[in-house]
Amino acid sequence: MKGSLTHQAIIRKGAWSDAFLVHNLERGNTFFRKIFHYANIEVVEREFETAYIAWNIGVPTPKPLKIGFSSSLSKYYVDFQYVELKNDIILDNHFSTQLINIIRMMKRINLNETHLRFSWNKNLQEHINAFDVFLKSNQINSENINLVYEAKNKVLNASPINFIHGDLGIHNIGNTFNKLICFDFQSSCYGPYEWDIGYFAGCLNPSELLCFEKYITLHNIWYALFVSGLKIGRKIIRGADLKKSNQNFLDWVSYVKKAQNLE
Ligand SMILES: Nc1ncnc2c1ncn2[C@@H]1O[C@H](COP(=O)(O)OP(=O)(O)O)[C@@H](O)[C@H]1O
Ligand SMILES: [Mg+2]
Repeated sequence: MKGSLTHQAIIRKGAWSDAFLVHNLERGNTFFRKIFHYANIEVVEREFETAYIAWNIGVPTPKPLKIGFSSSLSKYYVDFQYVELKNDIILDNHFSTQLINIIRMMKRINLNETHLRFSWNKNLQEHINAFDVFLKSNQINSENINLVYEAKNKVLNASPINFIHGDLGIHNIGNTFNKLICFDFQSSCYGPYEWDIGYFAGCLNPSELLCFEKYITLHNIWYALFVSGLKIGRKIIRGADLKKSNQNFLDWVSYVKKAQNLE
């Protein structure tokens, strides 16, 4: 970078962004730079602002420092405080209590008029598109089809009630040395009350969620079923391997059936 003595090293290449560790030699500090591939400035601002609001009320997420534009790459970036992460995450009671606290904390975020552009409807469109790709893929057993449409309808009829992270899968959660931390507020918006827990659950297999069972409502379970289908749709679009996601979907189908019988 011109004008300041910095050293940067790439640490991650992702579908949506690349990440660099930037060391400012003058100030002696290090930060995390997220360079967006496809995003326009509105998407970058949305992530920056919502991450800042969340950080400011105490949600454990790296502090966003500034938005910038790299003229050499013609891309926007956001600098965040750098946090050191442990590699492993264990889905135990300690993890689930912390995650539920993070989700509850986010529900207290008060969006005012200026934030109404963070719309659930935009997320919903992407979710439904991906889910429809899954529906059209002809992999769904006819005995499960009604259940799948019911899950889709629950999501279509959900009303936005409070702030949600929107993309709170295990891929956006990290483990620092003493606490959980969440990343990536790109999909955050004013959304359905039960979405974040349902989404977190649907990104995993029900068998991985034993420590969450006490927090999971029937609403969450329907959303989880939807999300397990949505993930397949996204993978079909990307051409990724479906084996694990197919199994998760089937296991969520069984889970919903069991939950319905217990009602
Ligand atoms: N401030 C940070 N410090 C250290 N690691 C980070 C930081 N922010 C993100 N990461 C790591 O980089 C990954 C990708 O960041 P994320 O914001 O989720 O980008 P993407 O939109 O490409 O998914 C995160 O899951 C996390 O492991
Ligand atoms: Mg991410």
